[in-house]
Amino acid sequence: KKFIYMVASLAFLTACHSTTTTETTQTTATTEQTTAAIKQSNGEADLSLGIQMIVNKKHKLPADYNPGENPNAGEKVRELIKKMQELGFSISNQYSGFRSYEYQTKLYQNYVNKDGKEAADTYSARPGYSEHQTGLAFDILNGTGGLLGENPQDEKAIEWLHSHAHEYGFIVRFQEGKEAITGYQAEAWHLRYVGDIAEKIYTSKLTLEEYFGVEGGNYDD
Ligand code: DAL
Ligand code: ZN
Repeated sequence: KKFIYMVASLAFLTACHSTTTTETTQTTATTEQTTAAIKQSNGEADLSLGIQMIVNKKHKLPADYNPGENPNAGEKVRELIKKMQELGFSISNQYSGFRSYEYQTKLYQNYVNKDGKEAADTYSARPGYSEHQTGLAFDILNGTGGLLGENPQDEKAIEWLHSHAHEYGFIVRFQEGKEAITGYQAEAWHLRYVGDIAEKIYTSKLTLEEYFGVEGGNYDD
């Protein structure tokens, strides 16, 4: 509230010579503020950023982008899984990592058929919009092959994972309370490889979108 008041006052002060109403000026000032802080998307993921690329509902991958599993990320996720198993957590050797555009098309369509488009969009990415297509995202599975966190018994494993994943170069991509920014329901099991910068992102408690100041949220259509 205080912030909005300050923006309004500032807008009023800078525009006091004009005939524009305060209300209109405030809207303009706020819009400009947003534009300055968050880089607007052109709708496409910036592939030149490599392991720091952002894929979300505002940043799409080309259908023919088919890199397979990122070798460094794959090595690290297997190391992480091994560590968790050594610590006694019930974790599967299997994980859901790289997914092609074609595979995501089928997966998403199955969810739409099952739950309807609106619901599916809250937890499954449309083809081209899945981080799994980058080869940098991994779903950790529990010992019975379900997504980690689906079982109440997974609680301790999740607690450990969420406070140690960054040591392996991963961030927990879809956090509770950040749904409006990431565009998805929280997913305790979905890790995203970012490399050395993981520690800084973890400490910041920010989403990838907030950390790099790029647009997130929902699909345009
Ligand atoms: N479940 C995540 C959002 C995906 O489909 O990529
Ligand atoms: Zn995932």
